[in-house]
Amino acid sequence: MLVNSMTMGKNRIYLDNAATTCLDERVLQVMMPYFSQIYGNASSLHYFGTKAKEVLENSRAEIAQCIGADSGELYFTSGGTESNNWALKGIAQAKSHKGRHIIVSSIEHDCVINTCKWLAQEGYYITFLPVESDGIVDLAKLKDAITSKTILVSVMHANNEIGTIQPIEEIGMICKKNGTYFHSDACQSFGKIPVDINKAGVDLLTINSHKIYGPKGIGALFIRKGTGIEPLLHGGGQESGLRSTTENIPAIVGFAKAAELCMLEMNSEAARLTELRNKLISNIFSNFENSYINGSTNKRLPGHLNFSFHGFEGETIRLLLILDEMGIAVSAGSACSSNDKAHQASHVLQAIGLNPFEARGAIRVSMGRFTTESDVDIFMESLIHTFNSLTSIFSGTSVFSR
Ligand SMILES: Cc1ncc(COP(=O)(O)O)c(C=O)c1O
Repeated sequence: MLVNSMTMGKNRIYLDNAATTCLDERVLQVMMPYFSQIYGNASSLHYFGTKAKEVLENSRAEIAQCIGADSGELYFTSGGTESNNWALKGIAQAKSHKGRHIIVSSIEHDCVINTCKWLAQEGYYITFLPVESDGIVDLAKLKDAITSKTILVSVMHANNEIGTIQPIEEIGMICKKNGTYFHSDACQSFGKIPVDINKAGVDLLTINSHKIYGPKGIGALFIRKGTGIEPLLHGGGQESGLRSTTENIPAIVGFAKAAELCMLEMNSEAARLTELRNKLISNIFSNFENSYINGSTNKRLPGHLNFSFHGFEGETIRLLLILDEMGIAVSAGSACSSNDKAHQASHVLQAIGLNPFEARGAIRVSMGRFTTESDVDIFMESLIHTFNSLTSIFSGTSVFSR
């Protein structure tokens, strides 16, 4: 039996798959023996160790194949945050003799932005590359920003808040022409749309497992052969001496299975989710005359939508909490993080031109493998109902177009 949002959440509807996904039952099944039967340390020479080593290397090869890499180019990490930290800090250290300039897009995930802020304190020069109002980087501005001292360009493949997809092939070509390394954070795109390290021309690529129905706490960094990088973790020499710690075999096995399922189901899932997303867009536009989409309408992930209501931005959190009481989980992007005590305005939404007030008021709906058409219909009905009651309480007016 497949686990779905209803069985998992006791009749709740989960529309926050960009934050994390549930573990697919098929993934859980393949992980189980590695907790209690094949539990060896992959560095041990006995039976238990060699069995663990065997499955470690098979899993590495399976995941590497999904992105067109050699298995020797894929290093397991604890997740996207670690991979991104490693890519930036590891290249910064290894290439500081060439220069100290790094370029990242202004809409990167916090784990890239905050790593760059830390690197700036360490004496590196960071350019935060602006994006257009549709959330896509301006390639001319990238070309202008690169200098002979630029050691790394890092631009994410798809954005976690607004779902927009960057032209990474073009960015890869620009980096190659200018002799600078190119890293891309593919945590949101891997498993949902094709990610090919050779087509993209990346030297480093971040992926993780918990966005693709795999376990949390496991990810990987692709490092193209010949790329000089310093390790973050020093120790017993695992992962070819580049990332020491005993490998998390159950999580790695689960990650590989999750990746395999995504590859098998990618085409049909992408088509299904695109249809659901487009239905949602047209429902929102036809029901709310003051609604607007954040980020490009077409250059976006299949199941991802970020939208706002003009003049209603201040009430978004209240709206989300009421929806949650009704059993529907959606997000307000970065503003919905319980770690964000100050409820800061989203740097991504500000980068696409929203003012700080507007940038606190977006709704992110991210659909996934277990989202059904009926989930989307229930969400729409609940949104209309909630919005109507809130607008009549706060202004005595309605903003519905019908
Ligand atoms: C684009 C992006 N990068 C990095 C991360 C961090 O990944 P992890 O939670 O595996 O550390 C996330 C997850 O929130 C993400 O969406």
